[in-house]
Amino acid sequence: MSNDVVLIARDLKKHYPVRQSMFGEPVMLKALDGASFELKRRKTLAVVGESGCGKSTLARLVTMIEEPTAGSLQIAGEELADASESVRKSLRPKVQIVFQNPYGSLNPRQKIGSALEEPLQMNTSLSKSERQEKAREMMTSVGLRPEHYDRYPHMFSGGQRQRIAIARALMLNPDILVLDEPVSALDVSIQAQVLNLLSELQERLDLAYLFISHDLSVVKHIADEVMVMYLGKPVEQGANKDLFADPQHPYTQALLSATPVPDPGRKHQRIILRGELPSPIDPPVGCAFNPRCPKVFDPCRTTAPALTPSGNTQVACHLVTAGKE
Ligand SMILES: Nc1ncnc2c1ncn2[C@@H]1O[C@H](COP(=O)(O)OP(=O)(O)OP(=O)(O)O)[C@@H](O)[C@H]1O
Ligand SMILES: [Mg+2]
Repeated sequence: MSNDVVLIARDLKKHYPVRQSMFGEPVMLKALDGASFELKRRKTLAVVGESGCGKSTLARLVTMIEEPTAGSLQIAGEELADASESVRKSLRPKVQIVFQNPYGSLNPRQKIGSALEEPLQMNTSLSKSERQEKAREMMTSVGLRPEHYDRYPHMFSGGQRQRIAIARALMLNPDILVLDEPVSALDVSIQAQVLNLLSELQERLDLAYLFISHDLSVVKHIADEVMVMYLGKPVEQGANKDLFADPQHPYTQALLSATPVPDPGRKHQRIILRGELPSPIDPPVGCAFNPRCPKVFDPCRTTAPALTPSGNTQVACHLVTAGKE
């Protein structure tokens, strides 16, 4: 494993047993059904896809909040499935998460200085004054004023609260930050400031980012690699420039066509997807995207396509494997 690779996921799955009626047998909801990727220092992997495609489920596995149903997850070279409780405990601080709504994750009655100190209090033996010093330093690093140490979350703007959440996630020097829609709740002008802060912190602290977003204009700006998901499965993944320059999966093409492009001269035809997103409890047979796909043909209705290298990206589509694209 190269020194820069901090996490490896192979065919990661999370299936939830759900009951559709009070007395019915539980059925399996495949929230995540096979994702493979690596996270590297100073690199950002973006995960995109519609609501319910499994993005936050993936985030919960990577941050060890939940256990995978199947597949392999290696963090800092340790296979989690085989790791002892003490190894898991030592790995936990290495992966931290920032959620979309910082107000939900900050205690309204806790001063922000103490919110920042809390991870240190629970995980280190630093003294009170050492903890305070580190918290103040971190406030400066994320562009907050250390003299606001004794303020409560409601005294800050949305963008500042997201800076607090980022600061808190960084207190234990993690290798990996999972960012689950970190700027979606912010005004566009504030989004840019927080994204710039994230880029700067990534460089300075050698962080690997797993960046979850449904906003492709943000992803294009920030990602090194992109993974496009549909109903729990990656349908296309590869380097940012390859994926945006030459999207191959009809779903990626549709997502991109719905994203505003800054160049008004560019020929831009919006692809409208037919039909609703199917239920993950009862996904379509064959390719899960087939009922909505503008290019559907026979094999799509019977066989699920596997992710296959094509050009510079990997694509799960019969059109691409059959060379019909
Ligand atoms: N604990 C659970 N039990 C049962 N089903 C779940 C559970 N958690 C998530 N799901 C289901 O798994 C699927 C994926 O959910 P997930 O929250 O990962 O989607 P998401 O891509 O993050 O969506 P969004 O963009 O809305 O945040 C959904 O169908 C969801 O209802
Ligand atoms: Mg989510």
